[in-house]
Amino acid sequence: MPSLVTGRLPVRLTPLVGRQRELRDVVDSLSRSRLLTLTGPGGIGKTRLALAAAGAVSTCYPEGVCWVELAPLDDPGIVARVVARRVGVPDSPGQDATAAIVEHVADGSMLIVLDNCEHLASAVAVLAEQLLGACRAMSILATSREVLGVDGERSWPVPPLSLPEDGAPAAAAALAESDAVRFFEYRARLVVPSFRLADDNAPAVAQVCRRLDGLPLAIELAAAQVRMLSVGQLAERLDDIFAVLVGGARTAPPRHQALRATLDWSHDLLDEDERVVFRRLAVFAGGFTLTAAEQVAAGGGIRPARMLGPLTRLADKSLLRVDHGGSDARYHLLGTVREYALERLAEASEQEATRRAHLRCFADLVEQVAPRIEGGSEGPLGLERELDRLDAETPNLRAALEFARDCGDANAALRIAGPLGRFAYLRGHYHEIREWMDAAVTAGTHAPAALRAQALLGSGRLALLQCDYLPAVRRLEAALRLYRELGDARGVASALQVLGSVAREQGRYARAMELHTESLAIAEGAGDRWAVASAHGYLGYACWLQADFERATEECALALRMFRELGDVEGIAWSLLSLGTVARHQGAREQAAALLQESRSQAERIGFREGIAWSLEQLGLLAADRGDPAAAALLRNSLEIHHDLRDRWRTCSVLEDLAAIALAQGNPRQATRLLAGAETLRVTIGTVIAPCDSAQHAATMTGARAALGDEAFAAAWQQGLRAQIEDLQADLAPPGTAIGHRPSGQPEAGTDPPAARTGSRRKPPADAGKQDAGSTAASGMLRIRALGAATVHCGDAVVTAADWGYAKPRELLFLLATSPPMTRDQLGAALWPDLSHEQLGNALHTALRGLRRALGDPGWVVYSDGRYRFNTAWEHESDIETFEQALAAARGARPAAAALPDLQRAVAAYRGDFLAGMAAGEWAQARRDELARSFESALLATGRLHAAAGRYQPAAAAFRRAVAHDPLNETAHRELMTCWVRLGETARAVRHYRELVELLQEQVGVPPAAETTALYRRLAGRR
Ligand SMILES: Nc1ncnc2c1ncn2[C@@H]1O[C@H](COP(=O)(O)OP(=O)(O)O)[C@@H](O)[C@H]1O
Ligand SMILES: [Mg+2]
Repeated sequence: MPSLVTGRLPVRLTPLVGRQRELRDVVDSLSRSRLLTLTGPGGIGKTRLALAAAGAVSTCYPEGVCWVELAPLDDPGIVARVVARRVGVPDSPGQDATAAIVEHVADGSMLIVLDNCEHLASAVAVLAEQLLGACRAMSILATSREVLGVDGERSWPVPPLSLPEDGAPAAAAALAESDAVRFFEYRARLVVPSFRLADDNAPAVAQVCRRLDGLPLAIELAAAQVRMLSVGQLAERLDDIFAVLVGGARTAPPRHQALRATLDWSHDLLDEDERVVFRRLAVFAGGFTLTAAEQVAAGGGIRPARMLGPLTRLADKSLLRVDHGGSDARYHLLGTVREYALERLAEASEQEATRRAHLRCFADLVEQVAPRIEGGSEGPLGLERELDRLDAETPNLRAALEFARDCGDANAALRIAGPLGRFAYLRGHYHEIREWMDAAVTAGTHAPAALRAQALLGSGRLALLQCDYLPAVRRLEAALRLYRELGDARGVASALQVLGSVAREQGRYARAMELHTESLAIAEGAGDRWAVASAHGYLGYACWLQADFERATEECALALRMFRELGDVEGIAWSLLSLGTVARHQGAREQAAALLQESRSQAERIGFREGIAWSLEQLGLLAADRGDPAAAALLRNSLEIHHDLRDRWRTCSVLEDLAAIALAQGNPRQATRLLAGAETLRVTIGTVIAPCDSAQHAATMTGARAALGDEAFAAAWQQGLRAQIEDLQADLAPPGTAIGHRPSGQPEAGTDPPAARTGSRRKPPADAGKQDAGSTAASGMLRIRALGAATVHCGDAVVTAADWGYAKPRELLFLLATSPPMTRDQLGAALWPDLSHEQLGNALHTALRGLRRALGDPGWVVYSDGRYRFNTAWEHESDIETFEQALAAARGARPAAAALPDLQRAVAAYRGDFLAGMAAGEWAQARRDELARSFESALLATGRLHAAAGRYQPAAAAFRRAVAHDPLNETAHRELMTCWVRLGETARAVRHYRELVELLQEQVGVPPAAETTALYRRLAGRR
């Protein structure tokens, strides 16, 4: 399996000096403890040692080593997300970042290095605890001034560089035994290449090193002075400085004093301009370019054009680092040095002004770069570079947004976040940037409409990409209204276009065509060629989905010509794809193949993954038409990319394509499962089968049913409905590969022979032997609470974290206890989505053992008919069961009004959201959403039944609970307002409406739905 991680180790241009013993010791400790924290004061060498250790152990972690630099972060709230990104977790809508890492890493063996944790210690502690609890083969190496304070953490205080022993001979050869002396020599040679440690200067070097307590950063700063001073002079100066300093700050720990004195001294030696530049550079997060320094650190007599001078001198004095990695050199201050510079900046009272300049600089940068990305007119290399640029500046963008928020500069926040839409799309940063945009809109209620509209449009587009259609429409409609008011044709055209895309994905083709047509007319009116080309492309797309191939060809050919003229690679790839698809539908196979191949290579050229996945799908279908066996592999490949991008809409289509192939290959059962799996996704996101595919879909459906017979078809359909995508993928793997599917019910060698395999359904396992057909486990009744904070009681005792051992056994119990019986592969897909079939055997075996041990009786999990299930025959209580049974009873109640007691039972059982606060995989998130929706429907039904019977007080109480659960549930708000009116409290209803307006404004920046406003008008009229 390829390595999971993307966050590679940073490269250091200077070699590690000494530290061999320390390195061995750290490596050894890391093999004993899964959380090792290197501690010590700033500048002692924690980061350097961690880097060396990470390099030394990298081969021990098959999934790789991931380096996460935390110094540039200020906000503890985004630590998990930043780690997730470095680990290479795909951005997945609505998922908690920690859970996403857990799911991605699962039981993979990986080392995560968290560098510079001190300012975020508690957030890191929480994250580390959750990750290590859930990922049993993960280790964490942290560096921090203080320990993190997590159970099981081992702290490893980093010592200073070794110093010459007292009384060591004064000869250079003897003194060079010490790491500190050799380090001094090494650093001095960087400024004076002819510098050599010799008998005449070695004692003075040793004196300097002792004076500086072996602290590498201090030695580095002092050694930079040998350009101007002999080592003897240096030692004397240090003595003088220390006499002053130590006299003043006796209470500080000696090493801290050494560093402080050295920093003060280095600072004193700067000329005035260098000092000014130095302290202003402290506002950058995660490094900066020369241009940025010119804009932020100049001023007050320092000319931007002369910035390179002070920067070079600061680098010579070791106060500034230079990284030559990317296309432009970047500079940064070492963490400890940056803190010092920040202090100086505050002292000079320049913080506010410099942060303002920083904000301006990055708002300007986005304004410059974003249109080049947005317009798509740059050559492919140019686009890559611009995207890299924004990626590198992300910490600075974050810092600038933070300052904009602190000082209430909503316009600047909108200028930064608003134009980042296409960057977020192409680099897959949907989540964080959508949040930036929403926060900026919310803060900027009085900002210029153009800025608000842009951010609303961007956020709406990202919501569409996440298949989050309702929030997408709210934002897009708000953007559209603003653009209309502004008379901004390009904006109107874009908003209409994205709204059209939402309609298309939802299968409302007529509406999609209307919106795209309107968009085209406006773009033409404004003479915007790119928007015109896009509109033709989208019209063609909606046409071929509806099987109108003739018009599709016209539109897409036009789009292709225009995109070629504009040099927009993404647009070219799209148009070719559409044309190729149409040709395939029309039976023009050769032409289709040529078009699709070209589309694929254009998409590959710019790394445009969505486009690649599309062309693979169409090429696969073309192969299938020819009866070429390569078809399945092409489609599987496409499925993998679409699924990885979390594009559920596309995932459904490819699953259906694969179903047709399975049927053709004589596997109707698999075809049925695939169709049902796709159906589940379609229902979840609310989308339909496109007319151009519906004949094929119906044929597969009918064919599978005819081949299997009604009963077997229904059974396979049920299996598919419950399956996870990964399950279906595993099902599809060609025979002989690692994830090949075996006939279910046959656990392979090495799997836990499940304890209950021989037991009948109603009995505990024979080998449990504690009782026979009794209905209670040896350990007593089990009580499972999954709604709200999760707990498990065995008899009277609560099952604690220590009983579970690690997080997976507990998650496994909740999964089994709240799902129908599951196959091993289904369990694997939910709990260990990244493990191979073989690895899964072990992981499941271990977790089952932990689970059975924690519950004190192996019979709680039963294995029969190829599936694992929770033993419901034994005495137990489960709030989910209560909730779902009550809901089912309510649904079956006749007359409908008789459902009230069952609904009330269901509502009472719902104490909170499913597994609230517990880190669990995506399966739990999906279940949580589903249960929350059921709960809200139950509340609405309760309220309506009360209201229908004239009991408005309890009705209002139910609606209020619905509103409290989801403040954006407008239906519940309307029902509640109606209740107030019925109770004679019209004024309250009106007030409620006004509050709702404010709430929607604040949370999503849009007005209430037309229906709500109409209700309000009616109510207000009554007063
Ligand atoms: N053993 C070493 N060899 C080479 N350079 C070192 C060594 N130890 C520390 N340094 C250098 O000293 C400076 C401070 O070390 P660093 O690891 O950043 O400290 P910390 O992380 O404890 O603040 C850095 O420039 C680092 O590269
Ligand atoms: Mg450090």
